[in-house]
Amino acid sequence: MALVFFLFAFLLCTITSHVVAIDFCIADLKGGDTPAGYPCKSPTNVTVDDFVFSNFKIGKPNQFNFSFTPAFVDHFPALNGLGFSFGRVEIKRGGAIPMHTHADATEVIISTGGTYIACFITSDNKVYTKTLTEGNIFVIPKGLLHFGLNIGKGKASGIVVFSSEKPSVQILDIALFGNNLDSGIIGKTTYLDVAQIKKLKALFKGSG
Ligand SMILES: *[C@@H]1O[C@H](CO)[C@@H](O)[C@H](O)[C@H]1NC(C)=O
Ligand SMILES: *[C@@H]1O[C@H](CO)[C@@H](O)[C@H](O)[C@H]1NC(C)=O
Repeated sequence: MALVFFLFAFLLCTITSHVVAIDFCIADLKGGDTPAGYPCKSPTNVTVDDFVFSNFKIGKPNQFNFSFTPAFVDHFPALNGLGFSFGRVEIKRGGAIPMHTHADATEVIISTGGTYIACFITSDNKVYTKTLTEGNIFVIPKGLLHFGLNIGKGKASGIVVFSSEKPSVQILDIALFGNNLDSGIIGKTTYLDVAQIKKLKALFKGSG
């Protein structure tokens, strides 16, 4: 009887200590990122503030007339291992978020104001486009080329959610014109005029 009680107490103790250990894993950013995420900050050093991100504010618009404030694991270490992250977007009147992809994340746009076109293009090149207004939620499937274009009379805004704590972003124009890939080769492989390519290289700080 005493042995059964002892075993039971031992098991309970082991189980409880495990539960406590896996409740969360706040990223220790100094530990370096790995494919499995960051190592955990020591639980003895975790405070409630580790679970709060206070900088989810609308930023200054960039040269393309939109602002994007990320809340990815590098900015908000509590997201480590959770498989999702956030962004806050505002597009000025007439502004656009250029064509881009997130190879590793589905994106969900929660529209909070304004009127803008959200669009994605599937792997078989079918176009899905919708004008969003406040209260709409739009899903952009993982890996697909997509963009946003403000067509309203004022700003357009939204919150975005990604199915990755650190989504990758590849902007089509930067991939084509923001590096040193030779303009002649780009012309041959995209069928664009070299003069236009040089113009875009100047805009996207590429060379060649
Ligand atoms: C907790 O934080 C202090 C101060 O930053 C540091 O010196 C200490 O090594 C940390 N403890 C653990 C267990 O990581
Ligand atoms: C940004 O908006 C300003 C006017 O507010 C306009 O002059 C400029 O061309 C826009 N830039 C882009 C890249 O659309």
